[in-house]
Amino acid sequence: MRTPFVAGNWKMNMLQSTGVELAKALAAVKPAGQVEVAVCPPFVYLASVKQAINSSHVKLGAQNVYFEAKGAFTGEISCEMLKDVGCEYVILGHSERRHILGENDKMINAKVKAAIGAGLKPILCVGELLEERDANKTESVIETQLTGGLEGLTADQLKTLVIAYEPVWAIGTGRTASPEQAQDVHQFIRNWLTGKFGNGFAQSVRIQYGGSVKGDNAEQLMSKPDVDGALVGGASLKADDFLKIIDGALAAKK
Ligand code: PGA
Repeated sequence: MRTPFVAGNWKMNMLQSTGVELAKALAAVKPAGQVEVAVCPPFVYLASVKQAINSSHVKLGAQNVYFEAKGAFTGEISCEMLKDVGCEYVILGHSERRHILGENDKMINAKVKAAIGAGLKPILCVGELLEERDANKTESVIETQLTGGLEGLTADQLKTLVIAYEPVWAIGTGRTASPEQAQDVHQFIRNWLTGKFGNGFAQSVRIQYGGSVKGDNAEQLMSKPDVDGALVGGASLKADDFLKIIDGALAAKK
C-alpha cells in the first residue's frame, strides 16, 4: 500500500510573512489518516518555512537544485545546502524548468543523481505538451523523459523516487486531465517502471498527478488506482484550498 503524497509547489509566489503564515496554518491541521504532506517554497524562504512547520507532519521540499556539489556556480544552490536547511524532497524537471529555463533530460538526470547521492528524495516531473498529446505522442514523450531522467540509476538507488505526471496543458490552465486520462498515463509509467526495474519496485513508487488539481477534483483523480497523490501549484497557495486536497487524498484512499 503506497501512502498518498500531496505536495504544494509554491513556484515563484509568496513572501516571507505570507509563506510562514501558510506553513503554520498547514502545520496546525494534522490529517486524520495516512497521507504525506510537503510544501516546496522558493529557496529564500526554505529556512523560515522550515521553522514554521518544525516538528509537525508537514515536510519541506525545494523546487530545484544544481547538480554540482560546490564551487563557482553563481546563483546556484547545492543538495547539501538544501539538506542543511531541512529539505527532504526536491522537485526536478518541472515543466517550467524544462520549457522556460531550458533544462533537458541529461541535466535533470545529473540532478536526480546528485539529489540521491545527497540523501534528498527526488520528485521527478514528466509530462507532454498539448501538441504532443494531440499527435498521439504522450507515451513516447513520457518514455523519453523517464529513460533520460533515470539513466544509470538502479532500483536500489531509486528507493525514495517519487514521479509526478504533469501534462503541460493542464498546468495552471484550469484544464485538469480527466481521472481516466491521468490513470492511463500513470499506468503507462508504472508499466515502464516494471519493465525497467521489476514489479516490486514499480509497485512501491508513488506517482503524483499535477495540473490544475483543486479541492473539487482531487478525490476523483486520486481515487484512480495508480494516482498516488498530487503535486499542486495554484491551489497550494491558500491553506483552505490545500487542506481540501489533502482531505480528498484521504477520502480517495480510505
Ligand atoms: P497547477 O500547477 O496546480 O497550478 O496547475 C501544478 C504544478 O505545476 O506543479
